[in-house]
Amino acid sequence: MKAKNSSLKSGFILRLIIPLLCFMTVEAILSYFITWHYVDTAYDRWLLDSARSLVQEIKVKNHKARVELPASALEMFKWDEADKTYFKIISAEQGVIAGDAFVPESFDPKADWSQPIFFNETIYDESVRVVSMLIQRPEINEKVFVHVAETLNKRRAMMRDILIADLLPQSILVLLTGFYIVTGVKRGLKPLHKLADEIAQRSPRDLSPIAETYVFSEVRCLTDTINDLLTRLACAIAAQQRFIANAAHQLRTPLAGLKLQAERAMREDDLAAMRPALVQIQTSANRATHLITQLLVLAKAEPVEGMHRLQAVNLAALAREVCIDWTPKALQKKMSLSFDTQTDTLFLKADEILLKELLANLLDNAISYGNEHGTIGVKVYCQPSITLMVEDDGCGIAETELDKVFERFYRPANSSGEGCGLGLAIIKEIADLHHAQISLARVNAAGGLRVEVRFCE
Ligand SMILES: Nc1ncnc2c1ncn2[C@@H]1O[C@H](COP(=O)(O)OP(=O)(O)OP(=O)(O)O)[C@@H](O)[C@H]1O
Ligand SMILES: [Mg+2]
Repeated sequence: MKAKNSSLKSGFILRLIIPLLCFMTVEAILSYFITWHYVDTAYDRWLLDSARSLVQEIKVKNHKARVELPASALEMFKWDEADKTYFKIISAEQGVIAGDAFVPESFDPKADWSQPIFFNETIYDESVRVVSMLIQRPEINEKVFVHVAETLNKRRAMMRDILIADLLPQSILVLLTGFYIVTGVKRGLKPLHKLADEIAQRSPRDLSPIAETYVFSEVRCLTDTINDLLTRLACAIAAQQRFIANAAHQLRTPLAGLKLQAERAMREDDLAAMRPALVQIQTSANRATHLITQLLVLAKAEPVEGMHRLQAVNLAALAREVCIDWTPKALQKKMSLSFDTQTDTLFLKADEILLKELLANLLDNAISYGNEHGTIGVKVYCQPSITLMVEDDGCGIAETELDKVFERFYRPANSSGEGCGLGLAIIKEIADLHHAQISLARVNAAGGLRVEVRFCE
């Protein structure tokens, strides 16, 4: 699956700037409500003072409330540059004693009149803040209410000033922080760009490690991983080159033989004289064919991602089939080839063709290096784990050679036959692909080789 193409830089910036903006928004909303509360409280106190100054003007005449406000006092009361002020003094018996009848009153039945009551209303579609007070004096026989209303211009102006004073420095701070984050992230990611440039400018042949000039541990960790990969890649390429050189060398021998013998045959006139050269040509061609076949099998067994589809394979049936195919070859050397299995169905996840190649190479070795008139036993069993076993009664492999025989093109000095030293390397490669373990052991004191391939399910 192709990974979504996203930038580390934008990822960092978004992760830092979005929370910053969220914090700022929450802070602005909180500031708004807190400021509103304090502005309201401050101006409510002023409004209450105005209402109290009106209360001073209530006089008593015949146990009734009277208000006689001179025009100058009324003007002073109402004078305000920013807001309009309205008032109403009303008694339960006389109705409006003074002021504007349209000033709203609180009709809240649960209102507690022992305290001044503040509420918001509108006068001529304009929002006002109203304070209402109940005046009860022993010398007045009736309830008198004082209502004072004021428009909200001063409050709004004060709110605006406080919010600007609060938000302006904050916005500048956020802008500066954002700028610092963007440039900081850019600078922080510079080593990565430098590293990418350095790798991009390399020649494909340059597998030398990246210089350890990077200060940041994260980038160092990346360069260390890349260096580790480069080292492994260099080893793999060196092994590949060794393998190609060996394969070329191995192929050159039978091809040189072919050429030589063909030249020799061409110098002869009659068929009888040509025959020895033709036999040599056949031998060289067989060797070349065998080598090429082994090389192809080895290439097929290479662990390439997605190339091998492992599916359920009946190991017992597969081993029986391969043994039947190889019986004629064993009989040529007068060997008996037996097959034994604990059960006829023994399924495991495998690549069927490669598994056949594995057993074919084991049988080829048993026939090539086993005793004439000897016996070869192939066994499949599932306890303690699924195992394929091939044993012969030949000379076996010396203890000191056991590790080396799995190397490509390696043949012990005393090896007989025309092999090219790839069989066990192929077997190992296929076993590794199936996560199987191989063990080589002597059959008994007289010799023989037992090869066990144990599959871990
Ligand atoms: N069953 C065996 N008995 C004795 N020696 C063996 C046996 N199997 C392998 N060997 C030894 O291990 C060596 C390596 O075996 P391997 O199968 O890898 O190569 P090869 O048989 O020489 O060539 P190839 O299999 O590629 O034709 C052989 O040359 C042989 O000396
Ligand atoms: Mg072999």
